Amino acid sequence: MENKVIVITGGSSGIGKALAEVFGKNRSKILITGRNLAELEKGIAELKTKGIDIAGLVADVSIEADNKKMAAEALRLYGRIDVLINNAGISMRALFEEVDLEVVKKVMDINFYGALYATHACLPEIIKNKGSVIGISSIAGFRGLPGRTGYSASKFALNGFLEVLRTEMLHRGVHVLTAAPGFTASNIRKRALSKDGMAQGESPRAEEKMMTAEECAHHIYNATVKRKNFLVLTLQGKLAVWVNKLFPQLADRLVYKTMAKEENSSLK
Ligand SMILES: NC(=O)c1ccc[n+]([C@@H]2O[C@H](COP(=O)([O-])OP(=O)(O)OC[C@H]3O[C@@H](n4cnc5c(N)ncnc54)[C@H](OP(=O)(O)O)[C@@H]3O)[C@@H](O)[C@H]2O)c1
Repeated sequence: MENKVIVITGGSSGIGKALAEVFGKNRSKILITGRNLAELEKGIAELKTKGIDIAGLVADVSIEADNKKMAAEALRLYGRIDVLINNAGISMRALFEEVDLEVVKKVMDINFYGALYATHACLPEIIKNKGSVIGISSIAGFRGLPGRTGYSASKFALNGFLEVLRTEMLHRGVHVLTAAPGFTASNIRKRALSKDGMAQGESPRAEEKMMTAEECAHHIYNATVKRKNFLVLTLQGKLAVWVNKLFPQLADRLVYKTMAKEENSSLK
């Protein structure tokens, strides 16, 4: 990955920031994005102290024009793009019967359309360099989670898009990785939208028991280097995907039970 140019959407926090660190420590050149300038500057300052060659751009993945600016900025700074990591994402937590549908739309706009726009903007360069498109999906993209209508739908849609892209790129030398982290400690649950579109403010799960963002990023880095097509993380995540494939009705009951145990769950 030495001297490769890596564009990471949503790199100011969590898994995206940890990816910037692991690729940067392996001497890649990094461009990260995010909507919040102060958070972006804080993340960049911290990563620069670790010797990482990194720059940032305020850009919202759900705005197509921002993704074009992002690709142009990577070319202006570094002259090429080798790897795009579609990482920017938000979550939600509300029963479908109660949710304001704008919440679902917002999650789709960021998690699915954001990846579509960013990939469209970076693909010509990635084809030229026989590089990689990486989608940070989720176990929720293989197995629907109650209370996460928009989130699960966005990740299923992302998986479908990546599968098509991988097939279209089969003879073009482009690598496409669908990476599905399991529960990973980050800000995502604090920032998740509740039924009225407000951030829920705190995590309903024990973050300290989860995989760290650094470990998650390390696995994604290795899968990129090995040009793997799929990565499913955590034992619980692998089990969920496997049980869902073989015993879907059992999976419904197990998933319900697990999610009903979350703090303040609306599931009975
Ligand atoms: N943590 C988990 O348990 C878990 C599990 C499976 C999959 N994932 C996936 O991993 C990815 C990263 O999540 P995370 O857990 O690291 O969450 P996080 O700590 O909340 O970080 C999300 C990052 O995305 C950025 N972002 C959000 N909306 C954006 C937008 N519209 N445009 C540009 N940047 C945006 C955020 O910055 P701004 O808010 O400043 O824009 C932040 O840098 C997501 O796609 C998520 O679905 C996470």
